[in-house]
Amino acid sequence: RKDLFLMDILAIESSCDETAAAVVRDGRHVLSNVVASQIEVHALYGGVVPEIASRAHTEAICSVVREALEKAEKTPCQIDAVAVTNRPGLIGALLVGVGFAKGFAYANSLPLVPVHHIRGHIAANYTCFNGKSAPLLEPPFTALVMSGGHTSLINVNDYTDFSCIGATRDDAAGEAFDKVARLLGLAYPGGAKMDSLASRGRKDAVFFPDAHVKDAPYDFSFSGMKTAAINYLHTQSQKDLPVCREDVAASFTDAVCRAVCLRLEKLFCDKGLFHSGKLVLAGGVSANSHLRSSISELCRKHGVELFCPPLGLCGDNAVMIGAQAYFEYTKNTGNFFDYALNAYATSNIED
Ligand code: KG4
Ligand code: ZN
Repeated sequence: RKDLFLMDILAIESSCDETAAAVVRDGRHVLSNVVASQIEVHALYGGVVPEIASRAHTEAICSVVREALEKAEKTPCQIDAVAVTNRPGLIGALLVGVGFAKGFAYANSLPLVPVHHIRGHIAANYTCFNGKSAPLLEPPFTALVMSGGHTSLINVNDYTDFSCIGATRDDAAGEAFDKVARLLGLAYPGGAKMDSLASRGRKDAVFFPDAHVKDAPYDFSFSGMKTAAINYLHTQSQKDLPVCREDVAASFTDAVCRAVCLRLEKLFCDKGLFHSGKLVLAGGVSANSHLRSSISELCRKHGVELFCPPLGLCGDNAVMIGAQAYFEYTKNTGNFFDYALNAYATSNIED
């Protein structure tokens, strides 16, 4: 086994609609980062079609991995381990990455490191807050993960030790953004388009309710907001009244920001749960400019140190998988040669 302090991991991510590969050194330094997006294909259908995603991953994976190795100036025999997202995600899509990673690991006699997708989203931050150009991020901290499939508040006690504080009971934040965007006639995925529309609209034009879950103050619920958007658009059309898309986007975004900040503010005052003084953002929705500014204002007010990943590492990528894999591998050295590795559509971050 090589020196753990110079460990180059080839990482593969294929859990949804991005085929990605990267080479990451010691969980902190990005040697290459390649992402092939399938968005154009899925946009035709207004959302991700699982079977099409699996087939597109199969077509793309060889060239994406080759490019990641070339950009990192590595041959397969200069790689120390292979990491792959094996949970949670679209099962057929995950299996393409898992199958490829197994073959690569077997052919090159390398350890195979399975990585939880959401653990990866959080770990993306280790590569930018690596003590070089930015402060070094180390656990413990609290993470707010908001993606297309997940919205949760998680205490990261250590690199591989997580406890969930709260999660969405229904739609994820990204899913809600995409659904409202679709109602407004925006192409999939509409999250980023909603962001720019919202900058030009009035926040108080339309009312969107924030649902609270009894006895679960840190849980989220976004499906009521989506229904409110449907009802509003329906009423406007029945009354033959115009719809200002900018106003709907701004009001909806503001409702999401308020729902998130309300829970964060409560958490910041809850010293039993929030003891690190550090908040880390992760996932595709953490690219949202309005969320970023309301969360950073709140953190300033409460003296909380905020870590936001660069926009390029918010969405799905393999850098985040390579980063988390390093910590999973170094904690459990020797246990990663399981060629019976499987993929799982659902999975708790704690397991
Ligand atoms: O993390 P991610 O790439 O994939 C999942 O793991 O789900 O997140 C994708 C989600 C999509 O729903 C997309 O619309 C949303 O992130 N998103 C945004 C923004 N950029 C991406 N939502 C709101 N504002 C944005 N700027
Ligand atoms: Zn993701």
